[in-house]
Amino acid sequence: MSKPNLEEYNFKQKHLLGLADYSAEDILYVLEQAKTFREVLDRPVPKIPTLRDKTIVNLFYENSTRTRLSFELAQKRMGADVVNFSSGTSSAKKGESLKDTIRNISSMKIDMVVSRHESPGVPHFLTRCVDAVIINAGDGAHEHPTQALLDMFTMQQIYPDLAGKKIAIIGDISHSRVVRSNILGLIKVGAEVTVCGPKSLIPKFVSALGVNVSHNLDETLAWCDIAMALRIQMERIGGGTDLFPSVREYHDTFGIKMDHLEKYPDFMIMHPGPINRGVEMESDVADSDRAVILNQVTNGVAVRMAVLYLLSGGARI
Ligand code: CP
Repeated sequence: MSKPNLEEYNFKQKHLLGLADYSAEDILYVLEQAKTFREVLDRPVPKIPTLRDKTIVNLFYENSTRTRLSFELAQKRMGADVVNFSSGTSSAKKGESLKDTIRNISSMKIDMVVSRHESPGVPHFLTRCVDAVIINAGDGAHEHPTQALLDMFTMQQIYPDLAGKKIAIIGDISHSRVVRSNILGLIKVGAEVTVCGPKSLIPKFVSALGVNVSHNLDETLAWCDIAMALRIQMERIGGGTDLFPSVREYHDTFGIKMDHLEKYPDFMIMHPGPINRGVEMESDVADSDRAVILNQVTNGVAVRMAVLYLLSGGARI
């Protein structure tokens, strides 16, 4: 699939609520734009003040390390004024509703909101409450679009054209927002996707998204160009699960091991983080030269810079 020209493409999106709303061209355009910012990050002074007239609030109702810090770094590297909201230290603890919270914050004159929340659909709700640009940083098990964009950017560093590339996503497919955004984005740009895991962690509807389903890790690793492992989302499953017999048995059946790297020498390994070492993969696998997990994190800053830049109006860099 040809990549949109940075000078000519007419990017019309106002928000980033999910990759469901973005065309293949929109996605490839964001990824092209992110290359420019990736180069900025390698400069001795990795700053470009294109958002110096913007005020951005990071509205986090759920824990985060990577997403929150990389959005904040992206915003600061672009010269924006940044304020951080954490529900745990806010008046949400006194019972203030989400609607009142965002309307009060909006009254302080903000331009953009980066939102993470445990409930699916919160970013869509925010667009009905305020005029600011809304960026979804993860809403329940629904979508995590900037994670999928940074994953696709990292895949493009290995395979510049993702059309026809074989991507395996292994683990808890049922409770993952990362998998949903990745499937939507990867299928749009022509990649082939297989999801792999125990039957109890793969929802029946997933085939309707155009992916293959496997319950055999060895077959999947023999097939794929890139294997992305996912964490079991215990916080969304709840305690006392009977979805799999034990974490140990899960690792025995679906954990990527050093033996797999020897047996199947071609596939690269990704993980959105946080990793549970010894569950979705052996610790040595995560640290091996076949894993590009920390590259994903570095690329996340560039991809989020591109998203912020384009949704702020994209004045010439
Ligand atoms: N990948 C990801 O969203 O990580 P955090 O929850 O740490 O932001």
